[in-house]
Amino acid sequence: MKRLVVVGVGPGDPQLITLKTREMLQKAPVVFFPVKASGEKGVALEIVREHIPSTAELVEVVFPMVKDETVLKAAWQKGAKTILSHPAPWGVFVTLGCPQVYSTFFHLKPYLEGIEVEVVPGVTSFSACSAKTGEPLVLGDETMAVLSASHLEEVPWEALGGFSAVLFMKIPRDGSEIAGIAERMRELGFSRLFYLRRCCMEGEEIVGGLPENPEGYLAQLLFKRG
Ligand SMILES: C[S@@+](CC[C@H](N)C(=O)[O-])C[C@H]1O[C@@H](n2cnc3c(N)ncnc32)[C@H](O)[C@@H]1O
Repeated sequence: MKRLVVVGVGPGDPQLITLKTREMLQKAPVVFFPVKASGEKGVALEIVREHIPSTAELVEVVFPMVKDETVLKAAWQKGAKTILSHPAPWGVFVTLGCPQVYSTFFHLKPYLEGIEVEVVPGVTSFSACSAKTGEPLVLGDETMAVLSASHLEEVPWEALGGFSAVLFMKIPRDGSEIAGIAERMRELGFSRLFYLRRCCMEGEEIVGGLPENPEGYLAQLLFKRG
């Protein structure tokens, strides 16, 4: 493989992909897709499956959901080797939302030596999720912060108090941290919260406030002032 095109497939609605992503998917001899474990369905792949011709080869790349650096590095190296050693001259790698926002693909990129990598941006999940609230994320001179909730001990809570809107992505799966985040943000003056899960996908939940048992997987929390 000499060239890899990394495309964003948007948040879940197959109509929310760009014309460029669709064109790449229609032409590529091979499509690489991320999975958490071998044999699983790939969330990003399923979104765009209808745009991929049956002649294209589909190849999974495993990104395990663990925090052990040794396990992760071994998986990234293995994924890069799968791509580099593929005999096709070029291929596409699909990512959920936009590759530029928290995409695990970029963990693997340093191991992709000697090939050209092009990125085709996509609609981010936070654009799609916030569109469902019926309000802009930010307007005029308002400010926003986008954070990962995967390492809460690293969140600069006090600094968040200066923003108009704060969005937490990558919330730990079991959702046990959500109530704590909401309480902390309420103390910082954010009186409104939207719980946004599986936007543009089956099982979509758009809730003002928190549902009874909020889950973390494919969810985000949007905090706003007054
Ligand atoms: C690894 S990040 C990838 C983000 C993606 N590249 C983007 O542009 O939004 C995964 C996180 O994105 C958010 N996410 C992705 N798709 C979503 C959707 N359809 N609805 C709600 N949140 C979503 C969740 O917070 C999830 O934990």
